Amino acid sequence: MINIHRLTSHLQELSEIGRTNEGGVNRYSYTNEERLANELVKKYMETADLTVEYDAVGNLIGSLKGKENLPIILLGSHIDSVPNGGKYDGSLGILTAIEVLHSLKEKEIRLNHPVKVIAFKDEEGTRFGFGMIGSRAVAGTLTDEDLNRVDQQGVSIEQAIKEYGLEKYRLQSAKIENVKCYVEVHIEQGKVLENHDAAVGCVTGIAGPLWLQFTLTGLSEHAGATPMDQRQDALVGASLIIAEAEKIASEYPTAVATVGKLSVKPNGVNVIPGEVIWTMDIRDIDDDIRDEVERKITQFAEKTAAARHIHLKVNELQRVAPVPCDEGIQDVVKGSIREIGESVVSLSSGAGHDGMQFKDRFPIAMIFVRSKDGISHNPKEFSSAQDIEKAAIVLFKTVLILDAK
Ligand code: GLV
Ligand code: MN
Ligand code: MN
Repeated sequence: MINIHRLTSHLQELSEIGRTNEGGVNRYSYTNEERLANELVKKYMETADLTVEYDAVGNLIGSLKGKENLPIILLGSHIDSVPNGGKYDGSLGILTAIEVLHSLKEKEIRLNHPVKVIAFKDEEGTRFGFGMIGSRAVAGTLTDEDLNRVDQQGVSIEQAIKEYGLEKYRLQSAKIENVKCYVEVHIEQGKVLENHDAAVGCVTGIAGPLWLQFTLTGLSEHAGATPMDQRQDALVGASLIIAEAEKIASEYPTAVATVGKLSVKPNGVNVIPGEVIWTMDIRDIDDDIRDEVERKITQFAEKTAAARHIHLKVNELQRVAPVPCDEGIQDVVKGSIREIGESVVSLSSGAGHDGMQFKDRFPIAMIFVRSKDGISHNPKEFSSAQDIEKAAIVLFKTVLILDAK
């Protein structure tokens, strides 16, 4: 039904762009690697007979006209990566969607609805600490203010867009209207499917990431000459808060809290740390629980900072609401999974995805592919060709059914 050799060879070829020594990928938004990756995917889209363009923020969009003037079926995923990320996260969804359209073309099946496959710009948020830039633009919610966010070198999103050769002033033109639904294939990034011995799964909903940035400011002093009871050590304060965050999130079965990025100033062996800045990623499938975890962590941080006479500042980087997947489309996905002789496993997504930005705009659905040992955001990330083929067939069938509705 689909050509798995073509799909896996595309996946392999794309993974060579931005490849790290450990076999992972570094592909950050608006960089040369990411441009090369987009250009390669553009070639695949054109071979599948899609009409290809870049929008105002650099989303790569391959469009196929429908037989009728009906709402658009959107497919896709993101092309960027986390530092030393895996080759399936994002790429798999884009390439699977292109493969489905390529196979439909070969079978001379013309869809009633128009279809767009999108390689979204910067889902991960690695470069600017602000993710889902491309999908926000497609949803029409990306603002000029958002574009003022800067990367570690002080380059703003707006500047990066300009340097990439795009016309930021057309920002609103990136919004896509008249959409029927969005469907994305993605590696699971967890162990649920593996534990159920299932190749593919139907996603019920996506947990919402809340990203905070904590800054603790104490006093940098001499490590040898300052007595222990007279210090304002920002790193000790940070350590207490980070350890408590782990305890607080562990009180809830589905909540998670992670500190993945931390910087210490001045970062000298014999200097008491005067400033520590770190990020905190807090998630739950339920908004209220996530907010409760956030409240408990920030209250503990305030208490700790006050007791140690150090200054605390907490900034919000992004707050994305959890999103349920559409039940009607879930039924279609589940039916397609059954049709290929697989048992149906429904699961929620702990990871964030571009579809979250379409909440309250149009229905979304996701098809997950089994992830070896549940490892992701890591060069060891792996899904087998057999599982990928099943996911592509499920997407193929799902698109045909949605198209007929
Ligand atoms: C993206 O993978 C995220 O969940 O942060
Ligand atoms: Mn990811
Ligand atoms: Mn992803």
